[in-house]
Amino acid sequence: MSEAANLIYQQDGAIGIITINRPKALNALNQATLHELDQLLDQISGNTAVKVVIITGSGEKAFVAGADITEMQSFSAIEGREFGRFGQAVFSKIENLPQPVIAAVNGFALGGGCELAMACDIRIAANTAKFGQPEVSLGIPPGFGGTQRLPRLVGKGRAQELLFTGDIIDAAEAYRIGLVNKVTTGEELMTSARAMAEKIMARAPIAVQMCKAAVNKGLDSPLPVGLAYEAEVFGLCFATADQKEGMTAFVEKRKAGFTGK
Ligand code: CAA
Repeated sequence: MSEAANLIYQQDGAIGIITINRPKALNALNQATLHELDQLLDQISGNTAVKVVIITGSGEKAFVAGADITEMQSFSAIEGREFGRFGQAVFSKIENLPQPVIAAVNGFALGGGCELAMACDIRIAANTAKFGQPEVSLGIPPGFGGTQRLPRLVGKGRAQELLFTGDIIDAAEAYRIGLVNKVTTGEELMTSARAMAEKIMARAPIAVQMCKAAVNKGLDSPLPVGLAYEAEVFGLCFATADQKEGMTAFVEKRKAGFTGK
């Protein structure tokens, strides 16, 4: 376990658990926290012992209640742009991390918090969690990817409604519109996130990594480009030991034991 000023990092077997830890400010993301997250992601990215990452918030009330408003209050236009660019870069690092990333949303996921959850691959929410992009109430649009990832996840009409009204929705509604994958009780949240991580870890790691890369590539590209990329990674996986093991195990009617090679 390691503890920076605003983050806690635990490695539980092959699962890396990042906890945003500023509970007094409802885990709001200030520049220091984003810098710590950026550095931690670099370490995790190069650590092959970490197979899946879970991101959650400290305390029972908030996942992350947004970017830190007290810090942003006096920003100039240039400072705002640079803060936005940095937050976007950190969240893109999450999106492009080789390991799958699960957001365990334990409470408010507002503004930058909703954007953080959306940069993760999978979102599991406690039934007390609340989601929204309330930035327009503060005189700004979302700045850490919300205008881009929200419509990709829930479609343009629903995204525009949430962005224009700043409405806060509960976990059930977030599930209904496809913003979260699953809703659990608060007590079961981490167990559920770990169970999802374990299930993913039982699959062939390189194949999982290639799924993530191909989905990300495809969402940023025209269909033919995404399909061409898929054919490449599909082919590449036939050069892995895990493809041999997976298909041999099927033919031999036994459970595959993958090695990540
Ligand atoms: N930034 C800084 N501090 C925050 C914060 C934030 N985003 N959200 C909450 N806090 C602080 C509060 O100021 C308060 O601090 P004090 O105890 O020192 O007064 C503490 O956390 C507890 O918050 P509340 O007393 O407000 O708690 P509540 O239960 O009454 O309300 C809440 C909870 C509805 C989440 C409310 O705190 C809230 O509306 N927070 C702001 C949500 C928001 O607008 N987020 C978007 C930020 S902008 C953004 O994220 C831009 C971007 O896209 C990058």
